[in-house]
Amino acid sequence: MTIDKIGIIGAGQMGNGIAHVVALAGYDVALNDLSKDRVEAALATINGNLSRQVGAQKISEEDMKSALARITYAEDMDALSECDLVIEAAVEDEDIKRKIFAELCPALKPEAVIATNTSSISITRLAASTDRPERFIGMHFMNPVPVMELVEMIRGIATEDVTFSEAREFVKSLGKTVAVAEDFPAFMVNRILLPMINEAVYTLYEGVGNVEAIDTAMKLGARHPMGPLELADFIGLDTCLSVMQVLYEGLADSKYRPCPLLVKYVEAGWLGRKTSRGFYDYRGDAPIPTR
Ligand SMILES: NC(=O)c1ccc[n+]([C@@H]2O[C@H](COP(=O)([O-])OP(=O)(O)OC[C@H]3O[C@@H](n4cnc5c(N)ncnc54)[C@H](O)[C@@H]3O)[C@@H](O)[C@H]2O)c1
Repeated sequence: MTIDKIGIIGAGQMGNGIAHVVALAGYDVALNDLSKDRVEAALATINGNLSRQVGAQKISEEDMKSALARITYAEDMDALSECDLVIEAAVEDEDIKRKIFAELCPALKPEAVIATNTSSISITRLAASTDRPERFIGMHFMNPVPVMELVEMIRGIATEDVTFSEAREFVKSLGKTVAVAEDFPAFMVNRILLPMINEAVYTLYEGVGNVEAIDTAMKLGARHPMGPLELADFIGLDTCLSVMQVLYEGLADSKYRPCPLLVKYVEAGWLGRKTSRGFYDYRGDAPIPTR
């Protein structure tokens, strides 16, 4: 099957990034969210991000104009009926994703592929909630999508080889590099990254170092571009906690237990950059460590 027309469900930070790279690669994109306002907000973000790429001479004005012209608003699932591939990038909530698939499947062509951008939910379980587990796949883009080169691809137990190879060719055509993961909790990137961040929070919790010392240690001692606590604030502490819970419950191993200090920050609503406070306080001119 040739993949020409792409549907994207969810126009948040990941959905708008995916729409951006897919349209720039020359595909027609139908973008759906709960309301037209959200899709318009996503288009404004895409416009701003494409303009920055024009400013940096990475793409031409013409590329930007034609990419924007390829993205249309999909009001409902019927507007996705012509799509060859639909990428679901709605909130990380299994019930919501299942509801979306229940509405989507009857509208789609039988051969259309469904991909999910979930960071942690079982691909096999999500696939089983659709009418096409063999045409279902995990396609895990990284944030921010226009910048990050990797896409993790995850087969469910029933995913057919032909689905996998079509999806892999599509991802390669976006200029991204594929890393193949098996369908286990948090796949590869988050399975490795989040326990490191959780360990950094334990290091803080046990008083081995303060926020600044821990981040400096990992930036200068391990050549990480961002310290683990700074990175946790960037990802969102609620997201970090939810991935640790998925690992802890999914693998039933105490080594993944979320640090009580991470739980406390989330309970306080100190979720990192998005709430202006986390391991750093972002309300002033420069971030100030909160411990
Ligand atoms: N944020 C990250 O760093 C990151 C990285 C990789 C993968 N992901 C995954 O990508 C997905 C989206 O995450 P995000 O960070 O973009 O979240 P987000 O909150 O920025 O966006 C989610 C969007 O989904 C929309 N939505 C909710 N219910 C919907 C429905 N029924 N139909 C259509 N749209 C609906 C919301 O209105 C919102 O615009 C999640 O599965 C998440 O785990 C996130």
